Amino acid sequence: MIIARTLEELRHAKELQKDKSLALVPTMGALHEGHMALVKRAKNLAPFTAVSIFVNPIQFDQQSDFQRYPKTEEADLELLKEQQVDLVWIPEVEAMYPKGFATRVTVGGPSLQWEGALRHGHFEGVSTVVSRLFALLKPQYACFGEKDWQQLQVIRRMVEDLVLPVVIEGVPIIREEDGLAKSSRNRFLTDSQRSRAALLIQTLRKAKIALEAGQNIAIVQKGATDFLEKNGFKVDYLAAVEGRSMEALDVWKPTARLIAAAHLGSVRLLDNL
Ligand code: PAJ
Repeated sequence: MIIARTLEELRHAKELQKDKSLALVPTMGALHEGHMALVKRAKNLAPFTAVSIFVNPIQFDQQSDFQRYPKTEEADLELLKEQQVDLVWIPEVEAMYPKGFATRVTVGGPSLQWEGALRHGHFEGVSTVVSRLFALLKPQYACFGEKDWQQLQVIRRMVEDLVLPVVIEGVPIIREEDGLAKSSRNRFLTDSQRSRAALLIQTLRKAKIALEAGQNIAIVQKGATDFLEKNGFKVDYLAAVEGRSMEALDVWKPTARLIAAAHLGSVRLLDNL
């Protein structure tokens, strides 16, 4: 496994790739089974696999969230070695944003609502860093988790609009036994919060059944939100949206996605179904 930290090392690693096609998994580290599902998918897609680990400062709207983002580099590299990843790109900020860097990639459409409305500049930070990763690593495939459903749609939109020569693969959410979606931030839940955290997905599952049975979307959304708030969640949004455009639905349809973001204490949980 090659570990590249500078642009020079990356250039060298790319030479070793020769004419093999490359599948890339962009991450911010603190790797868990969710990320590893992406790595496994990547390995099935291409003979050369690369994982990037970069806590991207420009996608955090809160400096405190950036500062406390978990860093577990040694354990991450161990996991990636076990999976026989070919290349890990783990740059310093200067390699991703050299002096004078002045470009931003702004995607409209699916980025405008939900996370985009609540976290100013977040998706611009994501699409900018992902564009630069694509330009540096030139992957034929790139894997993203459905865990961040809206992010996946924003990346798909960007790739289509800019005709980027990369195939985007969405990978289903990996969950804990009780259903809680695996996330690097789950470690910050207290025991009591952890025991309630799976109520988020359980509530989405119940809402889905009600919607498929033809119940009114606004009423189901309100009932689900009230239930979560009674159980200590502060709900940012819980909505049925069209799965690609992320536009809110007022009539249920098979391409719908139920999305939710809610705070439990200091942890913000994100899930979808
Ligand atoms: P990060 O939060 O590290 O996630 C990296 C990838 O892992 C994302 O595509 C995310 O959706 C996926 N992922 C995380 N938890 C998952 C789970 N439980 N099941 C399936 N997939 C999961 O998302 C980012 O980093 C960044 O925004 C990034 C795209 C790297 C740009 O900086």
